[in-house]
Amino acid sequence: MSERVIPLVDQRHPSLPLPPVVAGQTRHGLPVDALRRPLTDLRISVTDRCNFRCSYCMPKEVFDKDYAYLPHHQLLNFEEITRIAGVFVERGVRKIRLTGGEPLLRKNIEILVEQLAALRTPDGQALDLTLTTNGSLLARKAQSLKDAGLQRVTVSLDGLDDAVFRRMNDVDFPVADVLAGIEAAQAAGLGPIKVNMVVKRGTNEKEILPMARYFRGTGIVLRFIEYMDVGATNGWCMDEVMPSAEVIRTINAEMPLVPLEAAAPGETAERWGYANAQGQHDPSCGEVGVISSVTQAFCGDCNRARLSTEGRLYLCLFASQGYDLRQLLRDPAQTDAQLAATIDAIWRGRTDQYSRLRSLQGPDSALGQGKRVEMSYIGG
Ligand code: GTP
Ligand code: 5AD
Ligand code: SF4
Ligand code: SF4
Repeated sequence: MSERVIPLVDQRHPSLPLPPVVAGQTRHGLPVDALRRPLTDLRISVTDRCNFRCSYCMPKEVFDKDYAYLPHHQLLNFEEITRIAGVFVERGVRKIRLTGGEPLLRKNIEILVEQLAALRTPDGQALDLTLTTNGSLLARKAQSLKDAGLQRVTVSLDGLDDAVFRRMNDVDFPVADVLAGIEAAQAAGLGPIKVNMVVKRGTNEKEILPMARYFRGTGIVLRFIEYMDVGATNGWCMDEVMPSAEVIRTINAEMPLVPLEAAAPGETAERWGYANAQGQHDPSCGEVGVISSVTQAFCGDCNRARLSTEGRLYLCLFASQGYDLRQLLRDPAQTDAQLAATIDAIWRGRTDQYSRLRSLQGPDSALGQGKRVEMSYIGG
């Protein structure tokens, strides 16, 4: 038998030591981290697999048939996810996003959605429950997700030109099927729908205007994301980043834009509204957003924690190690109060601000050389 191929990026390198805690330590208000940022947003990756091979995320050469995905018993099961999510909600989380890989590949995902939709904040409110998908299975699943209690979806779509899109997903998937998925989500009431387009200079910048024209006035919010140096496999280089300012200039030249206020603190996207003849925002035309992780880092109020498919807690998209919460979830002696105290202690010690430091130190700094975790493993 041939030896198993060791993947280039072993995501299962040792986890960080858990802080020692005493149950009941959480009583002094909700945790803020070392930079005074609250914990309000939890992103849960439900699978490390995807049926696309976008080169900026899961390049084929690395994520091939020999790639060692997590075996099923290592994934958190739905009960474990719901339990830990409930503890996070008790400690301040108000938004939960299901991600992957491609989350709709996880079997019976609707059951998890139903369980998470039943969670309530300490003052009885429902959560902002959303999901990021590549849209390939959405036409089939939109209604059942809505019925299960999902509020909205964000769909990744990098262009409208079929040839460009097929090349970017690298599995020859047709754009028409994703557009049908978006329509099904709209018909099911999974809104407000957002569409995320990663812009790679030299690959899909010609798609910016067609995408803007297509979604203008539909109620769908199109957002342009700067291509990031996330993970360790995508061969990122600054030349392929198109700064958001250039995206806005391109759209503004044809469809004038006006800046809008941020909708919520800690938001990733800067918002721009389509203007009317008087130069004011015309709500009937809607808005676009830009996510400028490279040229304008937004770490200052980053309130996001990420839970990997196997239950590790990552404090930053660019982290190389996480905290093994699964070990606690599978220990019968652990109470919810102890879990809460552990989450508090981890969050209070958080100092991560990768993108900000990276932009201060330049793209060639040592900061960029670390062994970072893949985005398909901890979710976008
Ligand atoms: P909404 O609540 O729907 O506005 O979601 P969001 O903008 O918080 O989340 P979404 O998952 O849609 O984020 C869009 C993209 O922004 C992701 O795919 C990432 O590329 C990027 N992004 C999200 N969170 C972070 C973050 O914490 N750091 C960095 N550097 N990029 C992020
Ligand atoms: N740069 C920017 N965004 C990325 N995503 C994945 N990889 C990258 C990258 N290198 C985002 C895409 C996709 C989501 C799942 O993650 O927006 O929509
Ligand atoms: Fe899959 Fe999304 Fe990554 Fe593309 S960006 S490979 S669709 S997880
Ligand atoms: Fe948050 Fe890290 Fe992204 Fe900065 S780089 S916004 S700290 S996840």
